[in-house]
This record gives sequence, structure tokens and C-alpha cells, in this order.
Amino acid sequence: MSGPNTDYDPVEVAAVSPAEVEAARDAALAAIAAAADLEQLKAVRSEHAGDRSPLALANREIGALPPQARKEAGQRVGQARGAVNKALAARQVELEAENEARILVEEAVDVTLPTDRDPVGARHPLTTGSELIADIFVAMGWEVAEGPVIEAEWLNFDALNLGPDHPARTMQDTFWTEPADNHVVLRTHTSPVQARTMLTRTPPIYVVCPGRVFRTDEYDATHSPMFHQVEGLAIDEGISMAHLKGTLDHFATQMFGEGITTRFRPSYFPFTEPSAEVDLVCFVCRGSQVNDEGETCRTCRGEGWIEWGGCGIVNPRVLQACGVDSSRYSGFAFGMGIDRTLMFRHGLEDLRTLFEGDVRFTTAFGSEL
Ligand code: DAH
Repeated sequence: MSGPNTDYDPVEVAAVSPAEVEAARDAALAAIAAAADLEQLKAVRSEHAGDRSPLALANREIGALPPQARKEAGQRVGQARGAVNKALAARQVELEAENEARILVEEAVDVTLPTDRDPVGARHPLTTGSELIADIFVAMGWEVAEGPVIEAEWLNFDALNLGPDHPARTMQDTFWTEPADNHVVLRTHTSPVQARTMLTRTPPIYVVCPGRVFRTDEYDATHSPMFHQVEGLAIDEGISMAHLKGTLDHFATQMFGEGITTRFRPSYFPFTEPSAEVDLVCFVCRGSQVNDEGETCRTCRGEGWIEWGGCGIVNPRVLQACGVDSSRYSGFAFGMGIDRTLMFRHGLEDLRTLFEGDVRFTTAFGSEL
């Protein structure tokens, strides 16, 4: 039976000898200093400070030493491990800083470099559409006229034979500005530009007026409190309904293609007499009322016609209110929604796509210049 092992046994505790500990520490410090990047330092950490590293093994052997040798060996191994951990931490900080500096250099972006990836964008279809409409009329010798969107009540209504008590005033749900006794509205139609033109020019007058108009409508797929109209006005000697019909047929054909003409239905507007609603031949079924499969045309719901706008012979009361000699001159006028016209032309199903500024929508019209 062997007695307690009280003697220092240099063979069993070789790993804890000063020379071994020093060698392990120096090897670790040299490896740390040589680690060129964080990846290498990670490997060095596991090799020289991990659970299976020489210094960790030495640490574990301390327990096997005779009590009188433990303290000294413990200090030695502890100091060596402390030095290694300190060196690891310092090198870690150094390499992280180097890494960051390198990333800053390598991944720097020169924002001044030219690039061919700029989106080119496109002009808005309402802009190009309004210009197209204006061009159709300019080609016939007409002029483009404009007026303000914030308009005098008198020009928006009274001058157009819509007196204060006229029942038709309620047909156009109006935005009034405050104070109410200034009598200023957001124009409900482009017709006040007619009045402005007659008040400032002498006949013959041939003008188109595209522009924004406002009504207190819901905002949905077919309505909007802000939309666009184009107004037409021709004042000359001997103007008749036949001129109006010919002009609108030409407009329709230019906009929608050969064969797309118009028909008139009797209607009422205070500023025209006689008045008509103008319909377009359905540009989808071209008046046949059915699609290629023989089913009812969905665009015109089998009518063969689509509502386009209003028109008529300018009421002599309007001519008089605007200073035009109604015994010498007569005129025709018309007004239609530009948004609606563009929805027809481009097959748009929701009016709101025209107003919501989504560049993916406008880009699709990019080639239409
Ligand atoms: N101003 C009318 C509206 O907004 C449209 C209109 C109808 C204009 C007949 C005209 C016209 O010039 O003659 O409902």
C-alpha cells in the first residue's frame, strides 16, 4: 500500500515547470503578434488560450501538485495566462480597427462618379395628353387660352347664365373660399375661361382651354375632387351646330383613330342653346356593341357609344354678358373631361392612377413624347 504523495514529482508536473510555462506563454505571444487578421487571431485564441491549450492544461495540473508547490505554480501559470489574454484583447482591438479602416477604404463610394443608372422618368400622361389635345386644335388654327383655378363666382356662374338662383348651380358641387362675401370659388369647370376670353378679345375667337377644375366629389375609381377639363369656344359670323359636329368628329378621330366619330343627344346647359351631350363611338367595339367573342362589349355596356362631354351653341345671353354682339356673331362651345378621355385612350380602369404620382405608372408612358 503506497503512502500519500508528499514529495514533489518533477515528471508528473512537467507542464507546470517554469521553462514550460514560459515557453507556452512566449509561443502564444508570438502567435498573437503574428496574427494578420481577425480570422487568424480566432484560431490563435483557440490554440493558445482555449480549453486544450498548453496553458489551460498546465492550469489543470496545478491541482495534482504537492500543496507546497501549488501556490508558486499557480502564480506562474496565472501570470502567463493573464499576459496571453491581455495580448489577445489588445491585438483584437488593433485588428478590428485595421479591419474597419480597410472597409472604409475598400467600400468607399465615389458619389461624384457618373452613372448610367439614373432613372429617366417620363412626363405625366396628363401633361402629354393635354398637349396632344391642344396640338389637335392648334393644327386647325385655334389658340390655347388659360384662366385661374381660383375664380370669381361671377365668371364661373353668372356670366355663363347661371344666376344665383339658377337650379343648375347645384349640379356642380362647389368649393367656396372664405370669406364667403368675396364670392370666390375654385372653378367647377373650364367654362369661365370662355367668359374671360370673350371679355378680353374681339371675334373671331377660336380657343381651347385645358385645365384643372374642382368639385366636392368623393375620391374613387371614377370621381375626384380635382380633375381636368378641356373647353372649346368658337365665336364667328355664321357659326352653326354643323361646325360644332364637324369639329368634334375631327377631335375624336385624331384622339382615338379613324372611324371614331360622335353623336349628339339633346341636353341642357344654361350657357348653350341648343345643348347636347356628345357621345363617342365605342373605341373598343367600334360601335358593334359586342366583343370579338360575340359577348356584350364591357366598355360601352353594349351601347356602342360612350359619354364624352357637353356642347352646344353659345347662349346669346352669355355673348351679351361678355360683351359680344350677339346679332352679328354666334358661337359653339364644348367641354369634356381630359382624365376620362385619357382613361379611354389608354384603357385605364382607375382614375386615381392619374393622380397618385407613382413613377411606375408614368414611366409606362415614357415613349409617348
Ligand atoms: N361646363 C360643363 C361642365 O363642366 C361642360 C360643358 C357643357 C362645357 C357644355 C361647354 C358646353 O362649353 O357647351 O359640366
